[in-house]
Amino acid sequence: AVVVRRRMKREGKWAKAVGIVKEFEEKCGTPAAKLKQVADAMTVEMHAGLASEGGSKLKMIISYVDSLPTGDETGIFYALDLGGTNFRVLRVQLGGKDAGIVNQEFEEVSIPSHLMTGTTDGLFDYIAAELAKYVLQEGQEFQLPPGRQRELGFTFSFPVMQTSINSGTLVRWTKGFNIDDTVGRDVVAELTKAMRRQALEMNVSALVNDTVGTLAGGRYTNKDVVASVILGTGTNAAYVERAQAIPKWHGVPSKSGEMVVNMEWGNFRSSHLPLTEYDLAMDTDSLNPGEQIFEKMISGMYLGEIIRRILCRMAEEAAFFGDTVPPKLKVPFALRTPEISAMHHDQSSDLKVVETKLKDILEICNTSLRMRKTIVELCNIVATRGARLAAAGILGILKKMGRDVVRDGERQKAVIALDGGLYEHYNEYRKCLVNTLEELLGEEVYKTIDIEHAKDGSGIGAALLAASHSHYVSADSS
Ligand code: GLC
Repeated sequence: AVVVRRRMKREGKWAKAVGIVKEFEEKCGTPAAKLKQVADAMTVEMHAGLASEGGSKLKMIISYVDSLPTGDETGIFYALDLGGTNFRVLRVQLGGKDAGIVNQEFEEVSIPSHLMTGTTDGLFDYIAAELAKYVLQEGQEFQLPPGRQRELGFTFSFPVMQTSINSGTLVRWTKGFNIDDTVGRDVVAELTKAMRRQALEMNVSALVNDTVGTLAGGRYTNKDVVASVILGTGTNAAYVERAQAIPKWHGVPSKSGEMVVNMEWGNFRSSHLPLTEYDLAMDTDSLNPGEQIFEKMISGMYLGEIIRRILCRMAEEAAFFGDTVPPKLKVPFALRTPEISAMHHDQSSDLKVVETKLKDILEICNTSLRMRKTIVELCNIVATRGARLAAAGILGILKKMGRDVVRDGERQKAVIALDGGLYEHYNEYRKCLVNTLEELLGEEVYKTIDIEHAKDGSGIGAALLAASHSHYVSADSS
């Protein structure tokens, strides 16, 4: 009788845990009809953000990039790509028509986490010092002609109110960075000061968001690229807009009549978004409550944290992991996206990978197969919601560009350049995104759209934009 009672109790708790998962799954639902509402809301907000400064949660930032790389760019350029837990320094030698990128090198440096929440000088001094080290290792093939200064494209992947192609002030930090005294300052001026402190002679010719860099890098290799999306630690998109369709832009119209717009779509919010109590709690506890709601449902920084929060609730209310809540499970951000992805892709019949991850990361042992299956299911629910919402965002952009229908005689493809660790490494996520886009667009329209992986395009794109905005180019041509 004791054994029977114990089993009944266990099954009762199991049923409760399953109930928590089921309820969550229902709240996360993203049927096509809902995604279309999200896409429509995105299009509406895009219009509002373009109409006036502060007109929408979507900043729709004017990038000052009014012409994209053509392939004619020549010379040696540096780029610095800062936007996540790592930053990259690179140099490229551009050979112009036919030759393309003749030489290219890069190095990746991780940012000590204390610098992400320290001081402006602390962060920029570190970056400038690493850049200076990198410059010192310059090989023969990267030597500039005498008297010519090195030029840099700076990819800074946070919301920046651009004031020109090579200046702009930080609107706010996102993605776990939080340094109060940087907000409102010109990040190029800060970088330039830090480089001077390192006695590093370099001129910043272009300041770009990673989406803008990716768009430029994508266009360099494929002239049909019209938009870019980043799915990494954070998420965002940029696209080519007609200057005339930007009422808030009073600048001098360029020859192209175009302007690249950095949407900052991570900050999108709509009543159509399938938000759950876990999302809301995570937002409240975050460094930027009330902001970047779309990003918090979609991007790599947050997927694992959402799952951790559900597992916590299951442990607390349904003794999912036994009588006590595993202490490691209580640590915010203990589950990261690479782990979620690894568990989600576990093909073994006994879910060995899930078992190992739970043991290694959360010190949870003795999991049963049905527990592990439930965890895989949770990964699937959260990744699917994120990927489908990202697809809805892309549909919103296509609508704004009038590319969600096939027009008579429309032969040219619209290519979207995608990049970011989440997109690159999380296969199920990527597959789901692509399939959802097809589902939303329908076969005929989908055939006119291409999704292209623009690997590491943001750094190269910044170097290309530094080239096309080079001091020397304008001096030569004036
Ligand atoms: C965050 C930043 C945005 C960036 C994106 C992807 O959303 O605010 O500027 O493009 O992350 O890195």
